[in-house]
Amino acid sequence: MAAPPATVWTIVVAAGSGQRFGGLKQFSELGSRRMVDWAVETAARASAGVVVVVPAEHATDPTFAAPNGATAVVAGGSTRSESVRRGLTAVPDGADIVCVHDAARPFASAELFAAVIAAVARDGVDAAVPGIAVADTVKIVDQTGRVTSTPDRASLRAVQTPQAFRAVALRAAHASSPEATDDAAVVEAHGGYVVVVEGEADNRKITAAEDLAWVQERWSK
Ligand code: CTP
Ligand code: MG
Repeated sequence: MAAPPATVWTIVVAAGSGQRFGGLKQFSELGSRRMVDWAVETAARASAGVVVVVPAEHATDPTFAAPNGATAVVAGGSTRSESVRRGLTAVPDGADIVCVHDAARPFASAELFAAVIAAVARDGVDAAVPGIAVADTVKIVDQTGRVTSTPDRASLRAVQTPQAFRAVALRAAHASSPEATDDAAVVEAHGGYVVVVEGEADNRKITAAEDLAWVQERWSK
């Protein structure tokens, strides 16, 4: 008899303060919806439940009402890693796979969710993340700006979300409250087996105000 399909939950992290953008970018309008609504809608298509993590000071503010498709809304922390940990507390024990997705990436496709979920379901894999080849040569520099090395570009990938994890691996890796800019790094540091699948060029993260012009243009196409 085939194993029952894995239960997938997604945490959409939307609790950042948007320092580089200059405001809460995840709640800015994109078409007739907010950016966070786009991320949650796609996540809901791929998941049994979606936990949305919002800024703690706005958790009860109706302006930041739960997006359509959200199963639970929880207050975030002062770092992205802390926000993920708060989100994990609302994911039921029955979830086998947990995806973590940035609210600031409105154009991740349902196919990309399916690809990372399929990859993490393979034997021995703890995490699967989307990545794309890097066009620029990348330098490692010290604090004075001196170049210390140049990694081989062919081996580099710029990594995106959604990132899919075996729930036990993600919970174990976060148990000691580590800090990193993505969850794959947390699982790698904990000895996990992480694989990269092909990411999507349109799945850009909105980081600075200039990115909004791109995203509006992409949306209107
Ligand atoms: N995030 C979060 N909680 C935090 C910090 C970030 O949930 N304490 C979320 C953001 O809302 C975003 C994603 O993590 O969806 C990626 O973070 P980033 O692009 O860095 O957003 P901000 O932290 O808001 O921006 P900045 O770093 O410029 O302040
Ligand atoms: Mg940030």
